[in-house]
Amino acid sequence: MTIRYLRRYRDGTRMNHWFVALMFFAAALSGLAFFHPSLFFLSTLFGGGQWARILHPFMGLLMVLGFAFLFFTMWRDNLMNAADRDWIRHAPKMLQGDKGAMPAVGKYNAGQKLVFWAFGISLLLLLVTGFMFWSPWFVDFFPILLRRIAVLVHAVAAVVLILSVIVHVYAAIWVKGTLRAMTRGTVTEPWAELNHPLWHRKMTRRE
Ligand code: HEM
Repeated sequence: MTIRYLRRYRDGTRMNHWFVALMFFAAALSGLAFFHPSLFFLSTLFGGGQWARILHPFMGLLMVLGFAFLFFTMWRDNLMNAADRDWIRHAPKMLQGDKGAMPAVGKYNAGQKLVFWAFGISLLLLLVTGFMFWSPWFVDFFPILLRRIAVLVHAVAAVVLILSVIVHVYAAIWVKGTLRAMTRGTVTEPWAELNHPLWHRKMTRRE
């Protein structure tokens, strides 16, 4: 039997996605180095404490810029609808292995959509608050109380982003055949039929 493939991502989107992933790991590891003294050893990956401190905001900024391109090409496909609320209600059963009651899914399921918005909101908060204490460039524009709140929100948003990426990567590996969507740009037809039947129907309608 010959397996047919459907295109899920363009080359440019995939290259940008992996650039964002790389910048995420760089920004997260350098950021964790300042989070707690027990994690300071991570700064050696970037050439020591001073270099980690200098590079961290630039790597974070590049991650946000790359993500902005992903966001503007994908936000429409990630809008929640009534079927998504149904999906969330039945998700606990699916996690126990019973997929029977799950509603038909389009390009993304509700779990992917929630992770997408968690990425978007946490990155926006990281961007805005990061500027508020980026020393020596912008820090003097903001009063100390605002800067203290910004540091706290920055740390909480970073934790949310890191947890969301863990869920994202786990799901990408857990649902077999998904990784090739971002490595090759294509998925198999049986994968699409099983996991995203409405998207599969849309992609094959003309044939
Ligand atoms: C090693 C790390 C990562 C792996 C293995 C990975 C893997 C994947 C895979 C396989 C897909 C395709 C899913 C599908 O089409 O159903 C995907 C989509 C996506 N990834 Fe990643 N990813 C990683 C890191 C990241 C990071 C750090 C971000 C952003 C902060 C990100 C943002 C996205 C977005 C926005 C999509 C489109 C899916 C959607 O809109 O829900 N990824 N990723």
